[in-house]
Amino acid sequence: MGSIEDGLSAWLRYAPLPADLQKSYKSHSKIIALSSSKTSPIHTAGKELQDGIRRILNQEIDVTSSFQPDTPSPIIIGTVSSYAAVGGKIQDVPELKEDGFFLTTKGESVLILGENERGALYGTFEYLSVLAQGNFEEVAYATNPSGKIRWVNEWDNLDGSIERGYAGKSFFFKDGKVLQDLTRAAQYARLLASIRINGIVVNNVNAHCSLLNDENMAGLGRIADKMRPFGLRIGVALYFDSPRELGGLPTSDPLDPAVRAWWNDITSKLYKHVPDLLGFTIKANSEGQPGPLTYGRTLADGANMFARALKPHGDGLVMYRAFVYNHHLDESDLKNDRANAAVEYFAHLDAEFDENVIVQVKFGAIDFQVREPVNPLLANLRKTKAVIEFQICQEYMGQQSHVVYMAPLWKTILDFDLRIDGKPSLVRDVLSGERLHWSKSGYTAVVNVGNDTTWLGNHLAMSNLYAYGRLCWNPQADPVAMVQDWTRLTFGLNKTVVDTITKISMESWPAYEGYSGNLGIQTLCDIIYTHYGPSPGSMDGNGWGQWTRADANGLGMDRTVATGTGNAGQYPEEVAAMYEHIETTPDDLLLWFHHVPYSHRLKSGKTVIQHFYDAHYVGSATAQTFPTQWQALRSLIDDHRFEHVAFRLKYQAGHSIVWRDAVNRFYNAKCGIPDEKNRVGNYKWRIEAHTMELDGYKVVDVKPAEMASQGKAIVTTSNDAPGTAKAVLEYPSGTYDVAVNYYDQMGGRSNYEIFINDRLIGSWKGDLEDKLQHDFSELLDGHSATRITFPGVRIKKGDIVKVVGRADGNEFAPLDYISTLPEGVVD
Ligand code: GCU
Repeated sequence: MGSIEDGLSAWLRYAPLPADLQKSYKSHSKIIALSSSKTSPIHTAGKELQDGIRRILNQEIDVTSSFQPDTPSPIIIGTVSSYAAVGGKIQDVPELKEDGFFLTTKGESVLILGENERGALYGTFEYLSVLAQGNFEEVAYATNPSGKIRWVNEWDNLDGSIERGYAGKSFFFKDGKVLQDLTRAAQYARLLASIRINGIVVNNVNAHCSLLNDENMAGLGRIADKMRPFGLRIGVALYFDSPRELGGLPTSDPLDPAVRAWWNDITSKLYKHVPDLLGFTIKANSEGQPGPLTYGRTLADGANMFARALKPHGDGLVMYRAFVYNHHLDESDLKNDRANAAVEYFAHLDAEFDENVIVQVKFGAIDFQVREPVNPLLANLRKTKAVIEFQICQEYMGQQSHVVYMAPLWKTILDFDLRIDGKPSLVRDVLSGERLHWSKSGYTAVVNVGNDTTWLGNHLAMSNLYAYGRLCWNPQADPVAMVQDWTRLTFGLNKTVVDTITKISMESWPAYEGYSGNLGIQTLCDIIYTHYGPSPGSMDGNGWGQWTRADANGLGMDRTVATGTGNAGQYPEEVAAMYEHIETTPDDLLLWFHHVPYSHRLKSGKTVIQHFYDAHYVGSATAQTFPTQWQALRSLIDDHRFEHVAFRLKYQAGHSIVWRDAVNRFYNAKCGIPDEKNRVGNYKWRIEAHTMELDGYKVVDVKPAEMASQGKAIVTTSNDAPGTAKAVLEYPSGTYDVAVNYYDQMGGRSNYEIFINDRLIGSWKGDLEDKLQHDFSELLDGHSATRITFPGVRIKKGDIVKVVGRADGNEFAPLDYISTLPEGVVD
């Protein structure tokens, strides 16, 4: 079906509606976009609507900027004031807030009025979104944003790489400079405008001072020019030590007059290129970055220096990141806790920040984990305003090679009641500014789109970006409704398509939490290396403070006031009391706040360790259903996207088993408590590679041991000759799915063939690094471990299974085990 869909137009595909539906659309004679400026978002809106109507409805309409009162049934796009200026009646338009809009389709004409030009563009995208979903219902309503600040951050480096980016290279920078061709930047601005994002910080928070050389400042001006027609303003992340490193000053001390003068001068220059600059994002005294503390000053001194440089130029903001912590923390001190850092560093400065400083707070106190309680800093600010920071790239959530729809996770944060000063204090009401009477606050998210046509590396990952924009506007939006809208716009209106993608999406975060880290223990990925595959042991024994404190007897961080790090006490009284006690802490955050024995019984009645075992089995079993569910869409969506997603879901299903076994085996070895259901370490359908008859293969120990089925794998002994591994199949004759667990590392693309007797049943290459874009590893570990399955293989008792592996480069055709699975069994 259909032509190649590469994902570039994401949810703005404007696919034609079925002809009968097209006919029921009430036609309009003209689009009147009330602005004569070609760079105005209203002009953009006019063109967008013309294009959308042509494609969705197969109708051609002219656009004009001049208002003729007698135009029959027009579509009018403007601001409330520009409409009033041409004599439009505005008495029925409800009062709008900044960026809000009014849309009415009642009667003959359509009226889309923004409080400002950006709002009018948002209203136009809204109208197009309902048309594209075949919804011509007559409506009249106004809508306003919950968050005034609705930004995104991109962690793009000037050399073109993207920190924690899993979708290609930067489309802003290359070789230390701003790219000449900024086509993708404009396309991205269009996508962001359609979800009502009003700001973008274009470079990595780990910033480089050469961003501020003359050529790059001019380049930033070009980026801003591309984005302005979409109502999107740009900001930049700054390197704190730029005065020393770029300016040649002896210090970057924020109270030094020469340093302040240097920043004032840089800021003025920047405003010449970007007159509507959003402001600066600052990561300082964090993960090795210099900052005001380096110079014996307070964080407020640092933030205010930037704030005062911005002040004379207008409404520029300093987004000062609260992600300040010591990453050389001593784990032997049971009182040490990275989760305490934000409150310790910022709370006492509450009255010290200038009015145009906003503190940017990650949603949890550690780092975008699969589950965290709300960052307590959000309950400790009164005067200082804040934005919350989410992450759309899935750094700790499968890096877009796993499907994880995160809107339900974000909702657990936004709907949480912090009970500040004993009063209702939903996080979403703090962020809207209502609860603490903040003049400016809201949202930002790290997106890290790249130049891959899919933007995020996986078509299904885009629902996260879409839902993020919707939640900034209306944090009460329903995750199900959002993913349904997104699916209709992205994949079409077919009910099976919508239902299937919604189901997979809604099951995906619980599944991922199931097979990664449970009960608030965090994601359990390799935090020292790529943050991708399982490595529960990597969480402890280092200074990063993402500790689990797992030993033979128990696990979890004691964060209580009574006996632990005191973190529970950083929350307002009622919440603190809840987290202080095991009995009142919800199971899903138990190990975040408490250190308990493995045999501790949860509210569910299960022990902690049995919960781990079961959750890992249930989570990975859910992931096994994703490729099967997806098969139902084969003829209902285009082949290109069907195959793209099918490939990833199969990979995810296999990797979820790697996760399951690694985590379960790790804790099983730690505590020695067997799985009540006797699954962990007991894999009756597996043939371990190291027990096979080997020729040209040798046995190696895998470290840590839980990264292989029995701690061992095999690798070829030479790159010149193939290795073979053989075994007799002692299973009853029948039809089996044959799964092979192997390691796909960086540094080579091995070849494999698998035979039953001399019958070839499959062949593959260790070339996932060419197909998937998560961070790869050079080692035999939880990142490289993977599984390929050959379904429906006829096997007779006594048959011989043989794998032939040919090494390539530094990848020695490594194998872990072969599973011969009867129908319905996954192991
Ligand atoms: C995480 C991430 C880093 C990033 C940092 C930040 O630690 O792994 O790559 O720089 O967050 O948010 O500043």
